[in-house]
Amino acid sequence: MCGLIGALSRRNVAPLLLDGLKRLEYRGYDSAGLACIDGAGISVHRRVGKVAELERLLQRRMPDSAIGIGHTRWATHGEPEERNAHPQVSRDTIAVVHNGIIENYEGLRKMLEVMGYAFSSDTDTEVVAHLVHYHYAGLSDLFAAVRTAVNQLVGAYAIAVMAADRPDCLVVARQGNPLAVGIGDGEQFVASDAVALLPFTDRFVFLEDGDVACLAADGLSVLDADGQAVERPLQQLDVAGAGADKGPYRHYMLKEIHEQPDALADTIRGCVEHGMLLPAALGFTDRELLQRVQAVHIVACGTSHHAGEVARYWLESVARLPCSVDLASEYRYRDPVVPPGCLFVTLSQSGETADTLAALRYAAKAGYLGTLAICNCPASSLVRESAMHLLTRAGPEIGVASTKAFTTQLLSVLLLTLLLAHRHRHDAQAGRSQLEQLRQVSARVEDVLNLSRRIEALAVPLVNHASALFLGRGPLYPIAREGALKLKEISYIHAEAYASGELKHGPLALVDDQMPVIALAPSNLLLDKQRSNLREVQARKGQLFVFSDRDSGIEAGPGVRLVEMPKVDALSAPIVYAVALQLLAYHAAVLRGSDVDKPRNLAKSVTVE
Ligand code: G6P
Repeated sequence: MCGLIGALSRRNVAPLLLDGLKRLEYRGYDSAGLACIDGAGISVHRRVGKVAELERLLQRRMPDSAIGIGHTRWATHGEPEERNAHPQVSRDTIAVVHNGIIENYEGLRKMLEVMGYAFSSDTDTEVVAHLVHYHYAGLSDLFAAVRTAVNQLVGAYAIAVMAADRPDCLVVARQGNPLAVGIGDGEQFVASDAVALLPFTDRFVFLEDGDVACLAADGLSVLDADGQAVERPLQQLDVAGAGADKGPYRHYMLKEIHEQPDALADTIRGCVEHGMLLPAALGFTDRELLQRVQAVHIVACGTSHHAGEVARYWLESVARLPCSVDLASEYRYRDPVVPPGCLFVTLSQSGETADTLAALRYAAKAGYLGTLAICNCPASSLVRESAMHLLTRAGPEIGVASTKAFTTQLLSVLLLTLLLAHRHRHDAQAGRSQLEQLRQVSARVEDVLNLSRRIEALAVPLVNHASALFLGRGPLYPIAREGALKLKEISYIHAEAYASGELKHGPLALVDDQMPVIALAPSNLLLDKQRSNLREVQARKGQLFVFSDRDSGIEAGPGVRLVEMPKVDALSAPIVYAVALQLLAYHAAVLRGSDVDKPRNLAKSVTVE
């Protein structure tokens, strides 16, 4: 969702900005643009569609400039049209790129129109450009003009601003949206995501909410929300493998699905030593606090929310802790009750999801025992703002539809569950056998990857349908929901998931010989119940697509297509079955010809509420 980049250098920045924009493509967008300052003033280049379109435009005449800003826009105010793309410019003097939403833009727009400013777009961003222009005309100081302008803004934003007559400085500001300043050798960069800048530097300064900063050849100046000069710490990022290419895979998503055995093994390695869980690696640097946890409250969005729903089954049945799970967008508006000794846990691959961050900020003042972020991005706002963190070890995920970030979240919450379950015991053996079982999870996921061709064959009849139902029980119910979400996201087939026991309370009415029903049925304590539900589908001539293991006794036959899954222990089953459903969605999407890595209308990192 919207990506922003800026550069100030001695070399031509236009190709650097283009490269950075390509690295931001994974976030999801519908138009792209950049602006530079050359001899003739500010030149703006914008295109609806992919960055490749913008690149084609620039190939005709690549700008030559030592300063520039660029943007990928995901439409909020105004349709994806060239005039609404960023950068937005005021009177050929001020150019702005912006992520986020300015909530009071209508009032500001009216005020600026009265002052004689003509608007050429429907965006809230153009308001920022004119507002900075107005203050710059009065103050003749770009840094001061941006500070004054942002004081008038209500909402969330990360902005980068340049002035035609100041090719030596770039002014940036953040409130609620991330901004990373990259420090290069005699050059400086800014981006909404450090990933965009990795080819140029591995040294970053992450700005805080309320900061306004000026990037200039002689260094970086940062003023905080109170206007005080501050120094934000310089951080060196470990960039090994970051933004790597697709290798032999056709899509990033397929590559990332195949990276799961290693990512899961890394996750265990990072949290276990000599067969024992490491509390500090799981977030508990304070051992005393670990003993005081009496309940857990999990808040997340999208796929991460499904990981939270699986976690609830584990935390209650294995650790015997009451656990509630909320969608972040609902949580803080429902006035939640905080039970005594309750740990607040957020799950997020990006660590920048606006709703999850807002929930964390609410929870920080709500009387929880502590706040723990389970996140895949160490430098994210969520990690920085939480009291404790547990880093998932999936590595950078580029495909918009989350895969390896999800399964490493599952494994991380499972390890956290085991830690909480055995924290009072002095017996060093406690939990060892479960940990030993979990060490097999990578091998079982590998077994599922070897079933890819079989799953692809299953996707062939599926893609001719407009709708599909997914069924699961226990912790496999949220996995069924995740499977349905994956199918929707990338193949655009409508899909819904139900707890199998709910089938006869409504969705059975939809079942006929045209309805594919995808069922997760490992041999476990609930298998008999699940088999009864499958018979209910068969009796209505529904088309069953069953994922099950040999011990279940379920066989393929008329109306029943079967994928024989490896036999897995109950704790590993959600992880292993999730991978099978990722492959099903992937193959269905490829067969339908959709843009697997960048599905329409979706974004990897959702930074607006
Ligand atoms: C977006 C992504 C999803 C993700 C969700 C929550 O919608 O496309 O893949 O599950 O945001 O993101 P988070 O980064 O908080 O896990």
